[in-house]
Amino acid sequence: MSRLVILLVVNIVLVCCSRTSAQTENALYKDPNQSPAARVKDLLGRMTLEEKIGQMTQIDRTMATPEVMKTYSIGSVLSGGGSTPLPQATAQDWMNMVDGFQKSALTNRLGIPMIYGIDAVHGHNNVYNATIFPHNVGLGATRDPDLVKRIGVATALEVRATGIQYTFAPCIAVCRDPRWGRCYESYSEDHKIVQEMTEIIYGLQGEPPASRKGIPYVGGKDKVAACAKHFVGDGGTTRGVNENNTLTDMHGLLSIHMPAYSDSIIKGVSTVMVSYSSWNGVKMHANRDLITGFLKNTLKFKGFVISDWQGIDRITSPPGANYTFSVLEGIQAGIDMVMVPYSFKDFIDDLTNLVKNNYIPMERIDDAVSRILLVKFTMGLFETPFGDPSLANELGSEAHRDLAREAVRKSLVLLKNSKPGEAPVLPLQKKVQKILVAGDYADNLGYQCGGWTINWQGFTDNKSTRGTTILNAIKSAVDPSTEVVFQGNPPADFVKSNNFDYAIVVVGEPPYAETAGDSETLTLADPGPTVINNVCGAVQCVVIIISGRPLVIEPYMNTIHALVAAWLPGTEGQGVADVLFGDHEFTGKLARTWFKTVDQLPLNSEDSHYDPLFPLGFGLKTVSLVTRSVSVAADRGPCILMIIFSLFISLYLKVAM
Ligand code: GLC
Repeated sequence: MSRLVILLVVNIVLVCCSRTSAQTENALYKDPNQSPAARVKDLLGRMTLEEKIGQMTQIDRTMATPEVMKTYSIGSVLSGGGSTPLPQATAQDWMNMVDGFQKSALTNRLGIPMIYGIDAVHGHNNVYNATIFPHNVGLGATRDPDLVKRIGVATALEVRATGIQYTFAPCIAVCRDPRWGRCYESYSEDHKIVQEMTEIIYGLQGEPPASRKGIPYVGGKDKVAACAKHFVGDGGTTRGVNENNTLTDMHGLLSIHMPAYSDSIIKGVSTVMVSYSSWNGVKMHANRDLITGFLKNTLKFKGFVISDWQGIDRITSPPGANYTFSVLEGIQAGIDMVMVPYSFKDFIDDLTNLVKNNYIPMERIDDAVSRILLVKFTMGLFETPFGDPSLANELGSEAHRDLAREAVRKSLVLLKNSKPGEAPVLPLQKKVQKILVAGDYADNLGYQCGGWTINWQGFTDNKSTRGTTILNAIKSAVDPSTEVVFQGNPPADFVKSNNFDYAIVVVGEPPYAETAGDSETLTLADPGPTVINNVCGAVQCVVIIISGRPLVIEPYMNTIHALVAAWLPGTEGQGVADVLFGDHEFTGKLARTWFKTVDQLPLNSEDSHYDPLFPLGFGLKTVSLVTRSVSVAADRGPCILMIIFSLFISLYLKVAM
């Protein structure tokens, strides 16, 4: 080829490139003064099919090389449970990682930013030193939507402190059977309580002006996009088997499992995640009637629908058996972004071929990409694509830990406070000779945090993150003169021979997540029952249960003097001591039925035959020491006045006589 021709080709290429950048330099979609809808329309009109499909692709952070991000115009990256840039990574480490992905993403032709997602489901729980709040089962027991909104505010700040803009929360499952391994992610068996707790969306995303109700909203760089999950009926599967089949008619689905989605949409939730489960045998990831027909067309959801992790793979059995079919079914059902997260090349190739061969219409692709871009424009991601290092100190801040401590206090439910004919056990006295704290669950930060903490399946030590165990909280709450003895599994004769004033027994179930938590027996982990019998058979005891759900406790009820459900309180164990010793009152109420035996399950409050150990809404109260002292004075007030009056009279008579 002659030099002239080469020069001509080079010039054409340069002119094209400069025109492209010139074309987009002043493009309408880059103008923040334009409406999000106008920006979406303009940008969509400029995108190739490959760029559109890239935006629909969410990949795991381990796949997100600079070349992949640019070549495929990847729209989103995620951390799965426990996926961190390095052990005990700091806020800055996280931000450096996320900003690195963003820099690569912005090199794509149209400069479309990526969005990074993570499961911040009870605080920023993947992250070392983050504040870990009580899991949802405990928050439901608070019956305090404002508290939950404040938790959302704090969580958004801690997520943004790491440069992340999107959380896969809240889980608005209505858990109907505690045998489900994800029941602790559900606020309640009662959809009305779950609906109230969608207030957390306002905390996470910000509260939209009245004129903007019902459309995706993220108000500022200290807020994050939220995700109502898992659509729909995830908490209603048969026998609580995770990812299984929810057998109910449309009335049952709409009256129990759907209401919280309406509340979430009205509150501006930006995304909805599809459930692995099936409804009457139809996989939710392939359910066009419910995703497109109901969620998008009837409920008018305008954000984007995201699949669960390899959720479309599980449309087939075995998962991935026919991936092309999975892609076809999932996208046609109405899924807009696919959490692939590894086989993104297969996903992109399959979807591209399905569109080019007219199996999937371009309208479907445009609907998906428009929704994704709407969220990105609405949350200001084009204007502020990178993290804000000034937020770093929000991670695990004392103010957030105080909030978590308040949440722990309000989540505890007092189920028993005395044996028949005996005085109440709680609140406990701080100043006594000697107390026993028994049970390994008293001294294990991992146990009290539960699953989805640091690791997907949680941890079982005191060093994987920063917090206060229940034992340490007790030690700091009692009078310095009170001796505190800790024993994981004390023999009965040890208890008898030590003359303890009282004992605090902490038992429960170890951490788990998803299917690993499915249980047919719901028993206390050994040696819990032994610890209860050895300790409570010898000295006055209060038993504290650390669990993601009600467990079998009925056989020990006669032995136990006082019983507290503490759920999965998180890092701030002081909240437990606050109410044990009367600095605050017990106010929590069961958000779930506490069954007598597992043979009763499923057992929910509206069942015709309802014979629980403790019903939905149950919770004893105590009087705090402050309240008690004031009430004592008030009680004795009249007789004190009588004494003063009679002294006055006798003095008067003496003088007068
Ligand atoms: C998990 C969960 C989902 C979570 C997602 C990303 O399998 O089902 O709740 O958001 O994958 O970690």
